[in-house]
Amino acid sequence: MPPYVALARKWRPAQFSDIVGQGPVVRTLMNAITSDRVHQAYLLTGSRGIGKTTIARILAKAVRCQKAVRVGDWLKSCDECSSCKEIAGGNSVDVIEIDGASNNGVDAVREIRENAKFLPATGSKKIYIIDEVHMLTTAAFNALLKTIEEPPAHVIFIFATTEPHKIPGTILSRCQRFDLRRHSPGQIQARLAEVTAAEKMEAQPAALGLLGRAAEGSMRDAMSLLDQVIAFSSGQTAAQGTVKITAEAVRESLGLIGSQTVLAIIRAVFERKADVAVQLVKDAYQKGHDLRSLTRGLIEFLHAALVLKVSGESSASLSDDLSPEEWAELKQILPLRSLSEIEIFFQVLHHGMDWIARSPQPKLVLDVLLIKCAAAPALQAVGQGSTSGSGSAQKSVSTPLAPSAPVATYQAAPAASPVAAPNGAPAPIAPAPVAKASAPVSATKTWDGFVQMIKETRPLLANILEHGVPETLPSDPTSDGVLTLCFRPEDSYFKEQLAARSYSEQMLAFGKTYFERVIRVKLELKNVGETVASRREKDREDREVAAKNAAKNHPIITEAKALFGGDLGPIELVREDDT
Ligand SMILES: Nc1ncnc2c1ncn2[C@@H]1O[C@H](COP(=O)(O)OP(=O)(O)O)[C@@H](O)[C@H]1O
Ligand SMILES: [Mg+2]
Ligand SMILES: [Zn+2]
Repeated sequence: MPPYVALARKWRPAQFSDIVGQGPVVRTLMNAITSDRVHQAYLLTGSRGIGKTTIARILAKAVRCQKAVRVGDWLKSCDECSSCKEIAGGNSVDVIEIDGASNNGVDAVREIRENAKFLPATGSKKIYIIDEVHMLTTAAFNALLKTIEEPPAHVIFIFATTEPHKIPGTILSRCQRFDLRRHSPGQIQARLAEVTAAEKMEAQPAALGLLGRAAEGSMRDAMSLLDQVIAFSSGQTAAQGTVKITAEAVRESLGLIGSQTVLAIIRAVFERKADVAVQLVKDAYQKGHDLRSLTRGLIEFLHAALVLKVSGESSASLSDDLSPEEWAELKQILPLRSLSEIEIFFQVLHHGMDWIARSPQPKLVLDVLLIKCAAAPALQAVGQGSTSGSGSAQKSVSTPLAPSAPVATYQAAPAASPVAAPNGAPAPIAPAPVAKASAPVSATKTWDGFVQMIKETRPLLANILEHGVPETLPSDPTSDGVLTLCFRPEDSYFKEQLAARSYSEQMLAFGKTYFERVIRVKLELKNVGETVASRREKDREDREVAAKNAAKNHPIITEAKALFGGDLGPIELVREDDT
């Protein structure tokens, strides 16, 4: 059996076109080579494992290759000439790689200076790659400065460092500097998908998603983590032949918390068993699990619960991400709580992430948040429609979960406040029932009526519709059954969402029910001015101060603040668009 080559090494990009991310840097370098304007000193900076060394080598190879050609947008070295082969094998005499950490003294730099005077053995350029250049001593930097002030025409320096601030300004000013970017979880996930497919492995998207986040922006770390998981999973699945990478295996092998524990904690919260939740957290903590990743797990499953609650069995996107067991467990506990309650748990924990990350006592924070979620008297986001609690009892306003509602505020259920419960009735356990939207008055088929009807079963779809303004309704005699819906250019996101297949199918179905005829939907971008959503946004801004004060007084927040002295920041919903 051939020795196992670490994936990071095996998959080191050999061409500009293979580099993930770093687009501007790569383009600038390719252009410099093709237009014969290669600088004599480059500095590549950025955190570990994002391509500094890789890019330095690809640049060196492309500069020296006599047969490099442009293919489409890309410049490709031939990878066949002796120069290319020597560089790839790490034994080129004209591309000299120096580790700044172990050759950091003035003698090492003097040696480079002497050596640099001589012409390359072949070709016209001699290239020095000095990695971890910030490790050089001051004397070494001074010696280096002399060389890069007046470098021999045949010499190119490529410096790489994770700590550019440690490099003297005199050196910096002579370099063309490129700051490489960390990879997004999405970029990493996509690369891992490519790698696992080429390695003939089966990998759950959710598993690669977990790796993408665990790698914290570093492609190399992602590959090493994948190595670990493969080693772990091959032990598990050797009998079947192919390696299968599941989210559960990723969690186990990386010491991330198992989904069973995460779901058990959520179940305890849903069942109002705070003591059970706290005990589970304690067990996990004692086993050495990181509470931040535990919280992240809780948030992810609450998100899945929300999606499941809103879209029901049809949420195909979830079936990719959840194992059958996770799916079954979620479905079982889902009826225990309302959509608005789950939404608030999600927000409490999402907001709490910050506290947990910053606190010297993260376990206390998590305990308190879970206790409060589990034990709080019916928490309720208004806007989900409460039947009682008008006038002075209406302490705050909230908005339904939607991309347009990044800030949400809390309200204690009206019965929890003395004003709302004059008869001293105990706080209701569950939120007040949602007021039934009034059925359309038979003859008048209005847009508002249509949206109201949809809101009852498909609140997310209704929310999207509230960003549009109808131009023609299928009930208009002249419309020929066409529903023309216009979105403001800045709301094109919602238009696109609506165009997605699942939504357009739902629209047709709802249209048939409501307008009692087959409808066609036309979506347009247009400056339509105010929409229901924008009006609500404005109202919400107006009332935000009051709402925030009310939220600050909510028992969860008060207690957490008293304990940790934290301030109430904005409570945000995560958006998935950066992945
Ligand atoms: N931009 C990238 N695109 C694709 N793979 C990358 C990228 N950056 C890093 N890698 C992976 O990580 C490994 C280490 O990259 P390297 O260039 O040595 O990182 P750095 O020098 O920034 O620490 C590579 O062999 C490759 O597998
Ligand atoms: Mg490196
Ligand atoms: Zn070549």
